[in-house]
Amino acid sequence: MKELVVSKIREGTVIDHINAGKALLVLRILKIQPGTDLTVSMAMNVPSKKMGKKDIVKVEGMFIQDEELNKIALISPNATINLIRDYEIERKFKVQPPEVVEEVLKCPNHACISNAEREPIKPRFYIKTEEMKVTARCHYCGRKIENLDDYIS
Ligand code: CTP
Ligand code: ZN
Repeated sequence: MKELVVSKIREGTVIDHINAGKALLVLRILKIQPGTDLTVSMAMNVPSKKMGKKDIVKVEGMFIQDEELNKIALISPNATINLIRDYEIERKFKVQPPEVVEEVLKCPNHACISNAEREPIKPRFYIKTEEMKVTARCHYCGRKIENLDDYIS
């Protein structure tokens, strides 16, 4: 039996198989903030065959760019993207961690130059993936982040 927890959409972007409980971080990565005009639906901690529990985010009327979507791999490397047109899935793909990210993460090292308010330096991190574990290293100070969830800006 297949239960539908959130309605199908006519057109837009569906982010599926998000690690349970991380939908709000996905919204943050996509810069969907309070005050948005977008029609967004989401479900958290819903049953999933593959994952036990998962989150889902659906953004209507918008085809989010691959580059933006791939940032979701930082916190949820198994997430799948479905681009929907006329209720049909036009394209389905799995997110891929970018090699370098700018602005998405903030460095945990308070002394890092990327955290200096007076410096016009944007954070820059090199991403490494080993057996589905994603880590990041700061370009400026070399600090390694193991738990990326805690450092999404
Ligand atoms: N979806 C949607 N609106 C549509 C079509 C699909 O919101 N018009 C959503 C579904 O609810 C589901 C996701 O897009 O969350 C993928 O749909 P589908 O491929 O039909 O589901 P599965 O076969 O379960 O996907 P997968 O093989 O990726 O597990
Ligand atoms: Zn740093």
